[in-house]
Amino acid sequence: MAEGRVRVAFIGCGGNARGHVQSVLQVPEADVVALCDVRPESIEQVAQRVPQIGGLPRFTDYRAMIDEVHPDAVIISIPHTLHYEAAAYAIEHGAHVQVEKPMACSSDEARRLLAARDRHGKVLLVGYQRHYQAGYRWVRDAVTSGRYGPVHFVEAWQAQDWKGAGWRGVPSLSGGGQLNDSGSHLVDIVLWTSGLQPREVFAFADNRGRQVDVLSAISFRCEGGAIGCLSIVGEHPRGLAEGLQIWCRDARIFVDTGVHLQTKGGPPAAVPEDEMSAFPGNKDANFVRAILGQEAVQVPGECGLAVAAFTEAVYASVASGQPASVAG
Ligand SMILES: NC(=O)c1ccc[n+]([C@@H]2O[C@H](COP(=O)([O-])OP(=O)(O)OC[C@H]3O[C@@H](n4cnc5c(N)ncnc54)[C@H](O)[C@@H]3O)[C@@H](O)[C@H]2O)c1
Repeated sequence: MAEGRVRVAFIGCGGNARGHVQSVLQVPEADVVALCDVRPESIEQVAQRVPQIGGLPRFTDYRAMIDEVHPDAVIISIPHTLHYEAAAYAIEHGAHVQVEKPMACSSDEARRLLAARDRHGKVLLVGYQRHYQAGYRWVRDAVTSGRYGPVHFVEAWQAQDWKGAGWRGVPSLSGGGQLNDSGSHLVDIVLWTSGLQPREVFAFADNRGRQVDVLSAISFRCEGGAIGCLSIVGEHPRGLAEGLQIWCRDARIFVDTGVHLQTKGGPPAAVPEDEMSAFPGNKDANFVRAILGQEAVQVPGECGLAVAAFTEAVYASVASGQPASVAG
């Protein structure tokens, strides 16, 4: 690695990667050095939008790209069930990894990635951008500091006009439906802001005639006794809407269009903007600066493991019609 610089290559150049290419180019310490996609037309579309990367080496096989270019880091943005193999290959061949959500489609795969990261001394960052947002950072600090006592109950919901098109509707590529797609962000933010460790889930899902889940109703019980409910609604009139409420012993904290705090006996009050602060920069800048040893990783692989274990238990419960344990 050249002193103070990080050479970044892309695995997957579809819809999500397009924005990331531009965002990495804005990180002063980063250089984009190669592009890979099994569909050359995906690479061409990125190159047309971002002409300065048009002349970079192009690959249809990420193994060939990593073996030839030896990037310091890769950003993986491909269908969900392919994340694990690409991330493991990259780490084992010397690259730091930013992998899109969900990091992996089973707790076993997730654990193996963390072991590879530790064995090779690499950065492994998961693409949950809510960790950089002021409101969720405030909630996490307020709750996990214990300022309002222990968490007793969590309720969170997400509703999206979810298309589930293409590979997203094919279980062998998506690893699941809306729960494993946008729902992955909700599971992550519930676990990250609350600090809870779920131990058991009981869930119903409705595929609405498709091969993957569209609607999910999930109850869960955590280490220490906290319980909660999570609703994923993939049929929504338009756009994406979300809500999160955490009841601690001494307060209710909730996020809808803003962040609110309600302490015992009082009305809900909006948390003033100046009491909340975003992490400076986005996940791409954090990825590069974590590689350079300048910042802590804000979305470590442990978050990816926690989501994978929870999601796996939900699917097990739906399949069996019984409660399922969350792998510890
Ligand atoms: N963090 C977010 O908010 C966010 C938003 C959108 C998508 N995503 C995630 O990004 C990832 C990609 O989603 P998308 O919307 O860009 O999908 P997409 O279909 O637009 O792009 C995926 C690309 O991966 C390519 N691909 C498939 N297999 C490959 C392989 N083995 N090697 C290289 N390239 C391969 C496809 O040809 C395609 O161009 C998913 O994990 C998704 O969940 C995250």
